[in-house]
Amino acid sequence: MKIAVLAGDGIGPEIVAQAVRVLEALRSDGLRFELEPGLLGGCAVDAAGEPFPEATRRLVTDADAALLGAVGGPRYDMLPRQLRPEQGLLGIRKMLGLFANLRPAVLYPELANASTLKSEVVAGLDILIVRELTGDIYFGEPRGIEQRNGQRIGFNTMIYSEAEIRRIARVAFQAARKRNHRLCSVDKMNVLECTQLWRDVVTETNQEYPDVELSHMLVDNAAMQLVRNPRQFDVMVTGNMFGDILSDEASMLTGSIGMLPSASLDDRNKGLYEPIHGSAPDIAGKDLANPLATILSVAMMLRYTFDQEAAAARIEGAVKKVLAQGYRTGDIYEPGMKKIGTTGMGDAVLANI
Ligand code: NAD
Ligand code: IPM
Ligand code: MN
Repeated sequence: MKIAVLAGDGIGPEIVAQAVRVLEALRSDGLRFELEPGLLGGCAVDAAGEPFPEATRRLVTDADAALLGAVGGPRYDMLPRQLRPEQGLLGIRKMLGLFANLRPAVLYPELANASTLKSEVVAGLDILIVRELTGDIYFGEPRGIEQRNGQRIGFNTMIYSEAEIRRIARVAFQAARKRNHRLCSVDKMNVLECTQLWRDVVTETNQEYPDVELSHMLVDNAAMQLVRNPRQFDVMVTGNMFGDILSDEASMLTGSIGMLPSASLDDRNKGLYEPIHGSAPDIAGKDLANPLATILSVAMMLRYTFDQEAAAARIEGAVKKVLAQGYRTGDIYEPGMKKIGTTGMGDAVLANI
């Protein structure tokens, strides 16, 4: 197994270091892999003048999977768009065809009081958000900022082909089959033609999965329902932009955005694994970041790309024990718990592996 390690920017190197320690601890179990570091994002701009350099393109093409911290930061916000760190991330997703982004929002019972929502609202939460990742308004053409009639106009294109919709719908239906057989597709068909097609194609695809109960919801209502009664959802499937927004919202149901891992997969389970959060410039370099989303992303890597269910379950079990023992980074801290930093959380997980 060859794994590219892309620490990235901000808190990226701190959280990835802890995830790598956890991975290394599994070597003693007979898990065999090579780790190869690479540059992506702002650190790549600094070192090589571009966010997704050729060496990194080769590295991730050769690797079976990649582990990413996060990219971006205020230092790079003034760069021309093609040089921005985020373009590196979008580039890797597009180049590798990672169209299926799985974002599981699961509440560890120990964190029921860490959420800003009432514990009875979030207790038992277990949602899987399936986000399309290589299409939509993120990649649609034309796009730009231009002069028109004496003023600037900004424009982007929301676009999906039926093939793109069908393949992500199939991923979502298959995931629902392994869970509670319920799928909610989220769109804005009352206003946007692109998402009318989304709804039509998801509905057609349901014929291949008659055992899955399909429902549809408009995205504004879905945003509200996620905080009103999140347990009504099993699997949710949606486009790139709505999925970006709804998954950050869903992360707070689990206590913190620092808890939500993700897998970005192609059609053969090659994958990029990363926490859903960003580079958190406000807490970078202070040993404050929660590394659990990144550590749990390693578990997803072992499960989806390497088919190592036992090793994945061991990591998830260790995280559960750490929370039961009362260890908390600042983002999930409650009075009476043991407050620790990024490295301390890594130590605690290792002690329970
Ligand atoms: P962010 O997710 O980085 O941070 C939002 C808030 O959540 C901040 O207060 C931060 O401190 C907190 N937070 C995030 N991760 C945390 C963790 N592990 N532990 C504790 N607290 C955590 O979002 P933002 O501030 O909007 O974006 C910052 C930068 O990150 C931007 O440049 C953005 O483009 C980039 N970004 C990158 C990715 C990625 O690489 N996948 C994802 C989102 C944002
Ligand atoms: C995410 C991030 C990215 C996205 C950005 C950094 C390009 O917010 O992974 O959720 O919008 O997809
Ligand atoms: Mn996001």
